[in-house]
Amino acid sequence: MTNSKLAPSDQISPLQYAIITGAGSGIGRATALRFSEAFDRLILVGRTEGKLKITATEAQCPCEVLVCDLSQSEQVANLTQKVMGLLSQGSRSAELRALVNNAGVFDRTDFLDSSDENWTYHFENNLMSAVRLTRGLFPLLKAAKGHVTNVSSTLGLRPVAQTAAYSAMKAAMINWTQTLALEWAPYQIRINCVAPGLIETPMHQHLLSQPEVRAQMDKAQPLGRMGAPQEIAEAIYFLSSQASSWTTGSVLSVDGGIHL
Ligand SMILES: NC(=O)c1ccc[n+]([C@@H]2O[C@H](COP(=O)([O-])OP(=O)(O)OC[C@H]3O[C@@H](n4cnc5c(N)ncnc54)[C@H](OP(=O)(O)O)[C@@H]3O)[C@@H](O)[C@H]2O)c1
Repeated sequence: MTNSKLAPSDQISPLQYAIITGAGSGIGRATALRFSEAFDRLILVGRTEGKLKITATEAQCPCEVLVCDLSQSEQVANLTQKVMGLLSQGSRSAELRALVNNAGVFDRTDFLDSSDENWTYHFENNLMSAVRLTRGLFPLLKAAKGHVTNVSSTLGLRPVAQTAAYSAMKAAMINWTQTLALEWAPYQIRINCVAPGLIETPMHQHLLSQPEVRAQMDKAQPLGRMGAPQEIAEAIYFLSSQASSWTTGSVLSVDGGIHL
């Protein structure tokens, strides 16, 4: 007797994966938790395994923790291989729907004190980390018509003093996003940027621990307060979802109005 219906395995849609870098804290952690409500599997990337494992425990879907220093090209190449292996194992097909390039570092320095090493540090950790990973994952993104969200900064649009290296890399990230959006549009891969303002994360812990400084920082924002990591996570989720299906090469400011 022949059965004209599809076999069960043919009817099952591919597992939807998302990769989030810097997922052990701050914006990356909040993004992972938000994405875990909608994706089948997450791949959490960062340098500190313990922090990534805590995020994985809190997430609402299964997570793979992959430790990688994204400033090191060989480690990024290994990471790319591991991701390809992960998505091709198991009986159910899988696809990479979203990549969030969130990992980054911040260091405030007078320009005249900013050494070559300081510039290289920002270049490798804030720009090349995302460039290399995105390039390596192109085959998976192409196959899935996936989406990339780069986490830039208000400082990439409207810099402040003593942030030359950081702001230059975040501005470069915006320009790279726009170039890539044009290059990869024929593959239906969308690439967008979110530009957060001042967000309450471990990146600013030294300031947040001083109540008067914290009060000044809140007051300096047009909306009267710093942002929460979850508010950036919502914007990243929007840009990674079908709700933004005709949006590519854009920069979404989520900053309480400070870019104005
Ligand atoms: N907070 C803000 O006000 C603000 C504003 C605008 C933009 N941003 C951007 O938002 C992103 C997230 O920052 P955050 O505020 O959430 O700060 P955070 O809590 O310090 O998170 C940064 C994350 O990036 C990871 N990371 C840094 N360098 C890495 C590397 N080489 N390889 C792998 N992982 C690396 C860190 O991992 P480990 O902990 O394991 O080292 C950490 O989990 C950054 O790109 C930042 O520039 C932040």
